[in-house]
Amino acid sequence: MKILVIGGGGREHALCWHLSRDGHTVHALPGSVGIAAVAECHDGLVDDADKIVQTALAIPVDLVVVGPEIPLVDGLADKLRAAGVATFGPGAKAAQLEGSKSYSKKFFARHGIRSAQFFACTTRSEVDAAIASLGERMVVKADGLAAGKGVVVCSSAAEARAAAIGMLEEGRFGDAGQTVVIEQRLEGRELSVMALCDGKRYEVLAQAEDHKAIFDGDEGPNTGGMGTVSPPSWASDALIDAVRREILDPTVSGLAAEGLDFRGVLYAGIMVDAAEQPWLLEYNVRFGDPETQPVMMRMQSDLGMWLAGAASGALPPGHIEWDERAAVCVVLASAGYPHSSSKGDTITGIANAEAVEDTVVFHAGTAQGASGLQTAGGRVVGVTALGNNAKAAAAKAYEAVSHIEFPGMQFRRDIGSRGES
Ligand code: AMP
Ligand code: GLY
Repeated sequence: MKILVIGGGGREHALCWHLSRDGHTVHALPGSVGIAAVAECHDGLVDDADKIVQTALAIPVDLVVVGPEIPLVDGLADKLRAAGVATFGPGAKAAQLEGSKSYSKKFFARHGIRSAQFFACTTRSEVDAAIASLGERMVVKADGLAAGKGVVVCSSAAEARAAAIGMLEEGRFGDAGQTVVIEQRLEGRELSVMALCDGKRYEVLAQAEDHKAIFDGDEGPNTGGMGTVSPPSWASDALIDAVRREILDPTVSGLAAEGLDFRGVLYAGIMVDAAEQPWLLEYNVRFGDPETQPVMMRMQSDLGMWLAGAASGALPPGHIEWDERAAVCVVLASAGYPHSSSKGDTITGIANAEAVEDTVVFHAGTAQGASGLQTAGGRVVGVTALGNNAKAAAAKAYEAVSHIEFPGMQFRRDIGSRGES
């Protein structure tokens, strides 16, 4: 097949890498330095829907795979389908599951999906009432898309109030913060469960655990994700069964009952409590980043066939085959991340890192400068390796990391060692 992938981050590099390995002809818009090694890159911006439709028709492609959430929320998939292009990714209406936290929380409530108790607030008095009811431990969320930064996990009522007022009245997060969701703060361990969905059925992908905080031991501010392990050894079959029965089944039947034809990936962010019960924190309507990197390293089936099946409304029969081994992705971030990012720092050692057995370096924020590869974003690369278990995979990933250098490079040293056997 000829497949066009929209985006240019580490997630899209992992998707393009797998599609190319499957034997498909891969195009990307805009792609990246890393993606250019496995795909033909086309100029354009991910939010320029007209340009994307034109590119898809001109190549012409059999399938478009939309990577990031913003174009999905803005209706890119609807526009591509209207132009007759098979598309993996939900339309604007279903993308509200990620695009609006109050929409998604109400959806969970309508369909009986276990999730933290919440209030959607648009005024100071609603904020005060919500806080009075929830106590001290709360999470305050900007309703709209805020690049993963619109969530404040609070330990006191005063902190929650300040966060909510900052969003509502001081315009932090702009329009995204015109409504705030205030919810009960849950405790436990987080798990990312992604499922390919054709509108009627779904296929669960290998699970992954993300590490969101910038520093070892989950210290410091949250980031887009500093590393991932697939599978987390602590996620039992019984837990995944509960996620299917209690979260994914009611979601997929609820979407269909509400007339939303969801053809894409449902990414459930789950909190697992001390009693091994899964709670749904949120849905994303796109692949996780950096979850996709280790998951693609482990996927043995033809990704293109599965994505095209979902896009056509009929997933292939049977199940996806997985490498039994574990995969670990260690993100290398630029100086200043997550508050800012440093651009133009020279990167060395990628080839030596990739020479480590079963290791792939997925590019997230790199650019080709006059003197070679340079940093061009917060998360720079995701060094991803396979091993017999998480520890062995992490050892290989960190061996590969030791070859890479750039000024101000930051990474966590505990990916794959936290509670893994
Ligand atoms: P979200 O974008 O809704 O997934 O939130 C981002 C991160 O905030 C999650 O990955 C969790 O680490 C944290 N978080 C969100 N909601 C809650 C909650 N109700 N209780 C505890 N932590 C949460
Ligand atoms: N790794 C978190 C996300 O993709 O949203």
